[in-house]
Amino acid sequence: MSYNLLKGKRGIIFGALDANSIAWKTAERVHEEGGAFVLTNAPIAMRMGQINELAEKTGSQIIPADATSEEDLQNLVEKSMEILGGKLDFVLHSIGMSINVRKGKHYTDQNYDWTQKGTDVSAMSFHKVMKSLYHADAMNEWGSIVALTYMAAQRVFPDYNDMADNKAYLESIARSFGYFFGRDKKVRVNTISQSPTPTTAGQGVKGFDGFIAYAEKMSPLGNATALDCANYTVTLFSDLTKRVTLQNLYNDGGFSNMGVSDAVMEHFISE
Ligand SMILES: NC(=O)c1ccc[n+]([C@@H]2O[C@H](COP(=O)([O-])OP(=O)(O)OC[C@H]3O[C@@H](n4cnc5c(N)ncnc54)[C@H](O)[C@@H]3O)[C@@H](O)[C@H]2O)c1
Repeated sequence: MSYNLLKGKRGIIFGALDANSIAWKTAERVHEEGGAFVLTNAPIAMRMGQINELAEKTGSQIIPADATSEEDLQNLVEKSMEILGGKLDFVLHSIGMSINVRKGKHYTDQNYDWTQKGTDVSAMSFHKVMKSLYHADAMNEWGSIVALTYMAAQRVFPDYNDMADNKAYLESIARSFGYFFGRDKKVRVNTISQSPTPTTAGQGVKGFDGFIAYAEKMSPLGNATALDCANYTVTLFSDLTKRVTLQNLYNDGGFSNMGVSDAVMEHFISE
């Protein structure tokens, strides 16, 4: 169902790789709500992904950008304003990658070159995106910037590896830069902490199937899907959440406040 919540709004959506991507679902929902946007992803992901299909479906243009490159980001911001015909109202950062996770390197035995690359892609890129937007004065007042995160920033999930540290850094950047964006430009900056979701990035985490099944059984409302995340993001891009900023917002079916559930206890009670 569409509520026209984003009619007349313009933005940039990072990170749509395939139809499972949270950014893909978000692009579809933003389009349905009347928003116009530029799609972007790393040049390498463009070759692997199916982003052209999404662009066609949503009437969007694509600008490749490596989110670790300030030059690419500045170009992206300038070109997006040209294409969309003005300043931006929303930006979604939906980017994550850990080489240690991908190559099965244990947290206690990290390859620090990989760690640094992962931090740059997964967390510092958010600072770089906001720096490019801020210095180009590219955001309209009451605009909204959202990045996606995971609860491993607060609690221990052993197989999430160095992504846990990257997410803690990402969330901190949202608050720190969000202060300046709020004070100087009246722009909101928030992170959404999403349930485990079956996407390319999600499934890269060791034991993901067990992980997602456990979260499902722990959460009173069950795991939030990619579509649920897209819908929540739409509300944060809309004018209905104008003074929500500097927050880490859980979209997780209640998981983050659970101790244990009946469904999980059943596994441990002997008759
Ligand atoms: N899937 C989950 O379980 C889950 C849970 C909580 C949060 N998240 C977060 O959601 C976000 C989106 O991930 P997803 O699950 O949709 O997976 P995904 O694999 O579909 O998306 C990750 C995206 O990051 C992009 N990317 C990687 N390196 C990049 C670079 N250098 N420059 C630009 N883009 C780059 C990839 O091309 C891809 O499109 C990530 O921040 C992820 O950590 C995912």
